[in-house]
Amino acid sequence: MVGDAVVADGSAAARGGAGRLDRAPLLEILKRSTTWLEGRGLPRPRLDVELLMAHALGIERMQLYLQFDRPLAGEELDTIRDLVRRRGQGEPVAYLTGRWGFHALDLAVDSRVLVPRPETETLVDATLERLQGVENATIADVGTGSGCIALALAHARQDLTALCSDVSEAALHVARDNAARLGLDARVRFAHGDLLAPWRDDPAFGTLAAVVSNPPYVVRGDPALETAVARFEPELALYVDGSDPFAIGARLADQARSALAPGGWLLVELGVGSDDRAREALTALDYTDIDVLPDLAGIGRVVVGRTRGA
Ligand SMILES: C[S@@+](CC[C@H](N)C(=O)[O-])C[C@H]1O[C@@H](n2cnc3c(N)ncnc32)[C@H](O)[C@@H]1O
Repeated sequence: MVGDAVVADGSAAARGGAGRLDRAPLLEILKRSTTWLEGRGLPRPRLDVELLMAHALGIERMQLYLQFDRPLAGEELDTIRDLVRRRGQGEPVAYLTGRWGFHALDLAVDSRVLVPRPETETLVDATLERLQGVENATIADVGTGSGCIALALAHARQDLTALCSDVSEAALHVARDNAARLGLDARVRFAHGDLLAPWRDDPAFGTLAAVVSNPPYVVRGDPALETAVARFEPELALYVDGSDPFAIGARLADQARSALAPGGWLLVELGVGSDDRAREALTALDYTDIDVLPDLAGIGRVVVGRTRGA
C-alpha cells in the first residue's frame, strides 16, 4: 500500500506522499508502520513500532496508549519513518533505540555489542540458583559484551563481585558505561584479553565460585544464522574459528579448572545441538554434576559442570 510506504520509506517518492500523513494521528502511523513491517516478515512488528515510536517521541511505550489521537508531523514523523525503515532492513530495535531490557536491567546497547538475548537469562538464573548460600562470591564473566550477565548477577546479589573479560575493547567501553550507570562499577571489574588470561594474577584466581560465559558459537556459513544478525551484530561476538561450535567453550572449560575454587561452577551457553559435544568436553576435563539446562523454548542452552572437591 502506498500509505504504508509513506510511513516507512525515506525515498523521494514516499516523502512526496508524506503530506497526506502530515498531522495524522499517532495510532494511524502506528498501524500503518506495523503493517509495513509485517509485510517485511518481522516477527513482532507492533511491538517494534511501539518501541521505536516511544523512542522517537521521548516517552515510555505505555504512554503511546494515552496519546493515540496526538497528531504527528514534521521532524517527529521523519524520525519515526527513518527508524521504521531501518527496522525493515533488519537493524535490531536495540541498536535503533540504544536501550534493551535484560533480566531486571535496562542496558545501553549499540552495534559494538551483541544484543542480549532472552535465552541468556537462563544462564543468569541457573547461576543465581547455584550461588544460593555462597556468600561474597567472586565470579568471572567471560566475553562480557554489554556486561549483561555480570551486571544482572551483581544486581541480583548485592554481595557478589564479578571479573569480566572481553577481546573487544569496544564492547568493554559499553560494559563499563553500563556498570557505572547502574551503580555497579565498584563490584564489577573489566579487563581486556582472551578468556580468563587477564585475571590470572588476580588474588581471586583459583577461588572463583563460578565462571560463566556466553561465548561465540556460530560456525561461519551456518544457514540457520539470521541474515540480519550476520549483517548488524559484531563478528567477534558471533563466530568461532573452524567447524566446532563449542571450540571456545571447551577452551574456557579447560582454563576454568584452575580459576575456580574446589566445587566451583562452570556455566556456558550453547548453540542449538551442542549438548552432547559440551557434555563430553566437560566429562573429559573431569567436571562433576554435568548437566545441560533447557531455555524457555525447551532447547538445551546452558552446559553446567562443577570442579571436584566441594
Ligand atoms: C556471544 S557474545 C556475548 C556477549 C554477552 N555476554 C551476552 O551474553 O550478550 C560473545 C562475546 O565474547 C567476546 N569474545 C569472543 N572471543 C573471546 C575470547 N577469546 N575471550 C574473551 N572474549 C571473547 C566477544 O567480543 C563478545 O563480546
